[in-house]
Amino acid sequence: MATPSHLRPRLGVLLSGTGRTLQNLLDRIGDGRLRASIAGVAADRADAFGLQRAMDSGLETRVLREPSAIWSWLLELDVDLVVLAGYLRLLPIVPEFDGRVLNIHPSLLPRHGGRGMHGERVHSAVLAAGDAESGCTAHLCNARYDDGRILVQARVPVRPDDTPATLAARVFAAECEVYPAAITLRWQELQQDTPAAP
Ligand code: GRF
Repeated sequence: MATPSHLRPRLGVLLSGTGRTLQNLLDRIGDGRLRASIAGVAADRADAFGLQRAMDSGLETRVLREPSAIWSWLLELDVDLVVLAGYLRLLPIVPEFDGRVLNIHPSLLPRHGGRGMHGERVHSAVLAAGDAESGCTAHLCNARYDDGRILVQARVPVRPDDTPATLAARVFAAECEVYPAAITLRWQELQQDTPAAP
């Protein structure tokens, strides 16, 4: 039997880079571990490899930079949730999508977040601070970088011989579990907030 549509949110994915997070979502939707569908993928740069992954999966893609163009495209696609997947811009959120935009950050927010903190910089900062653990944080987005309500976090140890690259790999493996869980959690929350149709 087909899964009822209210159990499968339509996702709009925004990215700037390689699309590893998109690939993880595609893999998990493909094997049934994540109940969702991807309505389209937009990048802020035409050379983002994530666009190629999306095209290879037969998804609708766009290169969009203007927030107004992004929102009208997402509204046209009728997406339920917007998933930032390595998207490097701060996106002002329109009221229709308040509480519906998710991000994942490769640290234990509020540590090591904020403007300019992405990729290897985050892991270098964790090592420089001498933190005993790191992790990842899936959260709702608001008007500031890495600041909205935390949905799901996972912790990983920092090992004495870690480099930014080895720590990044451990954190990314945690992200692959955490982001699908956060998408599912947020969709369940929104379903509970919405009175059932008579
Ligand atoms: C992830 O590590 C995530 O924490 C951050 O972007 C990274 C994925 O970007 N938001 P990419 O797919 O490697 O470009």
